[in-house]
Amino acid sequence: MPATGLRLAMIGLGTVGTGVVKLLTQRPEHLRALGVGPLHLKTVVVRDSGKVRAVDVGSARVTTDFDLVVNDPEIDVVIEVMGGIEPARTRIAALLRAGKHVVTANKAVLAEHGRELFEIARQADRAIVFEASVAGGIPILAALAETLSVNRIQRVSGIVNGTCNYILTAMHERGLGYAEALLQAQHLGFAEADPTLDVNGSDAAQKLAILARLAFQSRVDWRSIRRLGIDELHSMDIQFAAELGYVIKLLAEGEVAGGRLSLQVTPKLVHKSHPLAQIRGEYNAVRVEGDAVGDLLFSGKGAGELPTASSVVAGVLDLATGRGQQTFRALRLWEESPAGPAFEPGLHAKSRFYLRFTISDKPGTLARITSILGEHGISIASVIQHETPENEPGQPVPLIIMTHEAEDERVRQSLVEADRLEIVRAPSVCLPVAAHER
Ligand SMILES: NC(=O)c1ccc[n+]([C@@H]2O[C@H](COP(=O)([O-])OP(=O)(O)OC[C@H]3O[C@@H](n4cnc5c(N)ncnc54)[C@H](OP(=O)(O)O)[C@@H]3O)[C@@H](O)[C@H]2O)c1
Repeated sequence: MPATGLRLAMIGLGTVGTGVVKLLTQRPEHLRALGVGPLHLKTVVVRDSGKVRAVDVGSARVTTDFDLVVNDPEIDVVIEVMGGIEPARTRIAALLRAGKHVVTANKAVLAEHGRELFEIARQADRAIVFEASVAGGIPILAALAETLSVNRIQRVSGIVNGTCNYILTAMHERGLGYAEALLQAQHLGFAEADPTLDVNGSDAAQKLAILARLAFQSRVDWRSIRRLGIDELHSMDIQFAAELGYVIKLLAEGEVAGGRLSLQVTPKLVHKSHPLAQIRGEYNAVRVEGDAVGDLLFSGKGAGELPTASSVVAGVLDLATGRGQQTFRALRLWEESPAGPAFEPGLHAKSRFYLRFTISDKPGTLARITSILGEHGISIASVIQHETPENEPGQPVPLIIMTHEAEDERVRQSLVEADRLEIVRAPSVCLPVAAHER
């Protein structure tokens, strides 16, 4: 680190940027005690320099001119908290080439262009520090890259999207419908104005791709991860799951079995005794299973101003001590020849399933559906069938079937057949059930 301390610039002064300024400016004694020297925020680049800001940036210049950062030889480290793919990608590349280290919270640009950006960083002998890009304030990347590095990681699973977890918790605990829960999440700042990438599972898949790189050293294109979101989830399924002793969670999961890696993002039924069932609201959690350390659970705030800024500023401190550069070199991320198992899209472990059919309440209906399941070798663990309400004769009724462990493909084939029956009145619903504790 230069004797004068570090000179910083930041691109973006929104939710995370505001938190970063607070942590850098409002605790000088604490930062001094860490012995990292002064951290001077010199320039902040924004889209609209006329906007009133929620925080005082002190002596920093607020500008829309990115060139004032990239061409400033005094700036050592740039914090990228503007988000999105472009111009973030081009700017990060230009900053690395101009000899600046980059701290970023941007999982989208890393999942999409990590390979290119890490290569540029290696060539320029600069570091990219990205703890804040997955699970906000939870130090999961440092744990996987450093503390757990001697382990062979067998499984990583977790709740990595706070927006979805907030919505699912509101649906489960307060009986809200999906649209109402989403509106509330937006009102409270837990969901963006356009929540598409969160609720359709893309955000979780991008984070899972980054986790998989670190946990399994495998090359993963996030787009090839099979992903289902929560946007088509019906509150009826949340209620039936609760009746059976489960909550529904959007899980991002990676597992190595037989030398092959499977990855998926999907809503699953999680038994209420499972540790991930206790993760409520906007909280995140990641479970890691290592061959030496066993089972670990990391949980905490996966987003928000100060939790995310906590990880961003930790990255700056790591660069100030030289740890960040060392870790980056050791990580060998996104290299041409990854050491880990190949990711096989479409490879899925067996699981139990929750199935909901919408059927005509007629004698023999249950038998016809169970016989289709039987023909596909799927055995049934339990059945719930509610009676048609007396005042609604002829209305279709839900039939819930919990299966024993079965192959995903067989279950899907059997549903295609069942949905062709005239007694099945709407497309059936199929959700996997997370494995019980081992
Ligand atoms: N929010 C969270 O809890 C959270 C958690 C983990 C990771 N992240 C990641 O952190 C990053 C920032 O998120 P955020 O929630 O802080 O975003 P945000 O509140 O929308 O703020 C974005 C900031 O970037 C600036 N900006 C956008 N486009 C720009 C451009 N072309 N040139 C210059 N400045 C530009 C905006 O400027 P103006 O203010 O002038 O419009 C704004 O200050 C994203 O990558 C996000 O995925 C966020």
